[in-house]
Amino acid sequence: MTLTEDTSKAELFHAEFAEAVHTGLTGTPRRIPTRFHYDARGSALFEDITRLEEYYPTRTEIGLLSAHGPDIAKRAGGACAVVEFGSGSSRKTNILLEHMDKPSAYVPIDIDEVALGQAADRLRARFPGLRILPVHADFTRHIELPREIEDTPRLGFFPGSTIGNLELDEAVEFMARAGDLLGRGSNLLIGADLRKDLKILLPAYDDPGGVTASFTLNLFHRINRELDGNLDVSRFAHVAIYNDQIGRIEIYIESLIDQSAQIMGRQYRFAKGERVHVENSHKYTLPQFQGLAEKAGWRTGQVWVDTGNLFSLHYLARA
Ligand code: SAH
Ligand code: AVI
Repeated sequence: MTLTEDTSKAELFHAEFAEAVHTGLTGTPRRIPTRFHYDARGSALFEDITRLEEYYPTRTEIGLLSAHGPDIAKRAGGACAVVEFGSGSSRKTNILLEHMDKPSAYVPIDIDEVALGQAADRLRARFPGLRILPVHADFTRHIELPREIEDTPRLGFFPGSTIGNLELDEAVEFMARAGDLLGRGSNLLIGADLRKDLKILLPAYDDPGGVTASFTLNLFHRINRELDGNLDVSRFAHVAIYNDQIGRIEIYIESLIDQSAQIMGRQYRFAKGERVHVENSHKYTLPQFQGLAEKAGWRTGQVWVDTGNLFSLHYLARA
């Protein structure tokens, strides 16, 4: 990518962020899309979350990948390209790649360019013979895969239950588009978090040390940093609730007092107790998730679940 292309991409993203914040704060209910959590600071805070005792998904999925790595590798076969959606630190990818038989390339896709670059450097050092071809993109939009993997069989990898951050219809749409992108004969290894006791679930999204709160509130700090905002972040709180009907954690930023703030020259009022919806994290039953995957054109097959029934890892085949 040329410097001019890079600059206009950054400008476009800035305009999109400004528009999403304005639309989100003037709409009813107030809502800002989750993808804006992930600037360099947001990605670092998410990494801190993954190391919390309360946050079970990361270590559970790592356990599944380690235990079933040889089986996954056998299914994927040799010389395929691994295409990862929302790769972040690529920590789990290390485990996958270690088990695989001479993968021909690794294509991490992420919206945070900083995390993407750092992860690519780490993987280049760890797997010197492997082609690493990062793609800085929004995975909910049209993506172009690198030409280098044009004729290579592809294994999609979408860990973390990041799919759960999408609405149910968006999740189907995403999986359908991922299928078109990866092409005929491809497979998708995807993590999906499961329904569980609220005693386990709620602390995972509201840890007593406040790391998750910092991750959530970073969105408002980011607005201040990038959109010339003066939100008094100390007067807002992170709120996580479980929506039993839909089966998802919902995260809000709640105003602790009546207040107003300026963002890009416009004024926004927040009444005490008013909330901005900033994230969902869906928790699925196995048949529900398999139904979504099938609706998106994937054939469901092997599913791995930990002994505590916390998390599931699905190996899907393009129907
Ligand atoms: N895969 C890692 C990271 C999960 S965190 C894991 O399982 O631990 C979610 C990642 O998805 C972040 O790195 C974030 O930057 C990225 N992400 C979120 N929304 C995105 C979008 N719309 N397009 C591309 N990447 C996105
Ligand atoms: C990235 N994603 C799968 C995380 C989740 O569990 O939904 C994001 C997160 N938000 C708060 N804690 C973790």
